[in-house]
Amino acid sequence: MRGYRDESIAAAALASGARVLSRSLKYHRPRTFFCLEGHCSGCLVRLSGVPNLRACQAPCAPGAEVEGQNAFPSTEIDLLGAVDFLFARGMDHHTLMTGSSVLNRLANKVVRQLSGLGKLPSHAAPELPEVQRYDVDVCVIGGGPAGLEAAAQVARAGKHTVLVDDQLRPGGSLRADPRTGRGAAEASWRGALAAGVAVLARSTAIGYFPEDDGGVLAVSAPERLYRVYAKQWIWATGGYAVNLPFSDNDRPGVIAARAVGRLLVDHGILAGDKIAVVEAPSLGDDVAALARALTAAGAEVTRVPLERMTTVRGRAWASSIDTVDGRVECDVVAVAAIPAPASEGARQQGCRVVLDPPAGGFRIVVDADGRTTAPGVWACGDVTGYLGPAAAAADGARVGANVAAVA
Ligand code: FES
Repeated sequence: MRGYRDESIAAAALASGARVLSRSLKYHRPRTFFCLEGHCSGCLVRLSGVPNLRACQAPCAPGAEVEGQNAFPSTEIDLLGAVDFLFARGMDHHTLMTGSSVLNRLANKVVRQLSGLGKLPSHAAPELPEVQRYDVDVCVIGGGPAGLEAAAQVARAGKHTVLVDDQLRPGGSLRADPRTGRGAAEASWRGALAAGVAVLARSTAIGYFPEDDGGVLAVSAPERLYRVYAKQWIWATGGYAVNLPFSDNDRPGVIAARAVGRLLVDHGILAGDKIAVVEAPSLGDDVAALARALTAAGAEVTRVPLERMTTVRGRAWASSIDTVDGRVECDVVAVAAIPAPASEGARQQGCRVVLDPPAGGFRIVVDADGRTTAPGVWACGDVTGYLGPAAAAADGARVGANVAAVA
């Protein structure tokens, strides 16, 4: 399989025609990427002997060995998928063959063999990763449009600033929206570096521990773990791509609209020739911009409001959708929903969040300056309620300037 340097394995797989990456745990239904942002777990693969790695967050590398998981003999043709036919009405494994102790023991043995996700790594890890302490004035979590702008503002004011981002390349939703695009993402990233921001890329903020020395953020980076101590914190974690409620919405080929945009804008890959966009209300301009870009790239695009949508058809991959107005042939179903604010880290740090459905879910509560309810903690961009890439960048710059004034 051919891929570009820094291209994700998931994008390279799609471009090469590989579609089903793994099978579901219980019924062995086909599974593949949905979000392309590392947050849905649909793309788990075994990569060079290590199980359960996300193909959308693993860069292509020469000689890498990528295997599908949870299937025999392959993810495309999985004999264990017979479970789905044998138990067409569902299987309650808690009560499986409990009428006979002999059969129950046998059933337990089979279930133990089949359960679990992936096989253990081929080689034991040679040693535990190094842990490094990192003291800064300001820590920004999230390298999308809001986080990059906020970090740049703070660093330009002479504050020692670190930015933590979990994606292959910073830029967040800028890389998925045809109105901004890859160029804007690269420029914003370069701007942050030029301002003096230390960027921890491909690094995940895995937990905040208030009891440790006034509060520490644990960060998992590719080569080591960091314990980050900061005087001020800015949460700019954006929002998660989410699915919408319609029948068979877990069928491969049902992909987040933002992932379809990311493939086109960041990777130059047209996700399908006939793309049905199922859209929730209130995303009209975003969907129109994506539809225009997909059409200009040669796709046939059909927009379907969620309330007209009924079900997805196809076996291992979507082939059409049924709507109340009739059937629509397609090879990709793009789901356009308001992203759910990624607010759980800030909540762990003591920030108040509220459930706000029009804003996408549990958004962080902030005042007019971007302060959260936790002392020294700020938030900006989509994590405070959906804004979209351009407005999130402006919000990040504004909040960054406010933080610079007090840090
Ligand atoms: S986690 Fe990789 S596609 Fe969602």
